[in-house]
Amino acid sequence: MSLLEIRDLEVTYAGHAGTRVRAVAHADLDVEAGQIVALVGESGCGKSSLGKAAVGLIPPSAGSIRFGGEPLDPLKRGGRPKAQRKLQMVFQDPFSSLNPRRRIGDLIAEGGRVATEAGETPMSVGECLERVGLSAAFADRFPHQFSGGQRQRIAIARALAARPRCIVADEPISALDASAQAAVANLLVSIVRDLDMGLLFISHDLAIVRSIADVTSVMYLGKIVESGPSAAVWRDPLHPYTRSLIAAIPRPDGKGTLPRDLPGDVPDPAHPPAGCRFHPRCPSVMAVCREREPQREALQPLRTAACFVASTANPAHDRPVATNFVA
Ligand SMILES: Nc1ncnc2c1ncn2[C@@H]1O[C@H](COP(=O)(O)OP(=O)(O)OP(=O)(O)O)[C@@H](O)[C@H]1O
Ligand SMILES: [Mg+2]
Repeated sequence: MSLLEIRDLEVTYAGHAGTRVRAVAHADLDVEAGQIVALVGESGCGKSSLGKAAVGLIPPSAGSIRFGGEPLDPLKRGGRPKAQRKLQMVFQDPFSSLNPRRRIGDLIAEGGRVATEAGETPMSVGECLERVGLSAAFADRFPHQFSGGQRQRIAIARALAARPRCIVADEPISALDASAQAAVANLLVSIVRDLDMGLLFISHDLAIVRSIADVTSVMYLGKIVESGPSAAVWRDPLHPYTRSLIAAIPRPDGKGTLPRDLPGDVPDPAHPPAGCRFHPRCPSVMAVCREREPQREALQPLRTAACFVASTANPAHDRPVATNFVA
């Protein structure tokens, strides 16, 4: 059983004029201890909605989330059950996620309160700061005295104080300068490896994902359309959407083909296309794609895709889909 296990998750919001926006549509995702799982996809595809539901910040409209084997309930007054406190979230913007009037030592100590409530000793403020590469002497300072990259380190330190078993990080580096991005991403990787935690890394930066994630899950309009070990996904993407995303990554040397934008706009999730949601933009569309919605299938060892084109090219694989590996 996975550390974090999401099955058939659906998140729905109220849209205009009584419509419902299905931001997450029957998504499955697993995170194992010691594993970095990336969730990628274009803006608006439902990544943050999945991440917030995963930590219990918003209620799913259907499906199940289990953490450490226990069902996870949306946040209620009176705090979270003990097991769920081991699941922490780091947000994109370290400027708004840290209270500017509090000293960082207090902010981190407050993060550790959930460990105390669970009958454990929280990680000390000094150790948290040192784990994220900052001096323990900074505890008396205020958030405005730090750069964006340092503030994100402080947000990670606050999450660590609770001694989490898993962190959901929603675009944790996208608000940072280029120089801080790789440093904070590498820091998260080393913390997860050292402490044998799980990490769900939500990002639209495929170059970073490729370099750090063991498993990559690709989301399109609320659905996970492909998932597998990152190296395999990059070497041989199964879903045409994954192929288009990878083709759109600028070459690191700045040479070669220009990044190619995906044709067409992301459809409105309140009115998703019939059949396969990607079919209006798919370069390999077949007749069946307009009529039926493809289901997630295991097409290669450890790899799944929801695509008629991919399943025609890769006859269904008979081995079960396991996720307890590190690529
Ligand atoms: N509180 C809300 N009320 C109504 N609709 C919402 C709400 N939050 C998100 N949505 C809609 O749900 C869909 C998914 O949004 P979400 O923020 O999960 O996407 P995302 O993949 O995280 O995007 P980004 O990459 O821009 O952060 C979008 O169409 C968005 O407009
Ligand atoms: Mg988001």
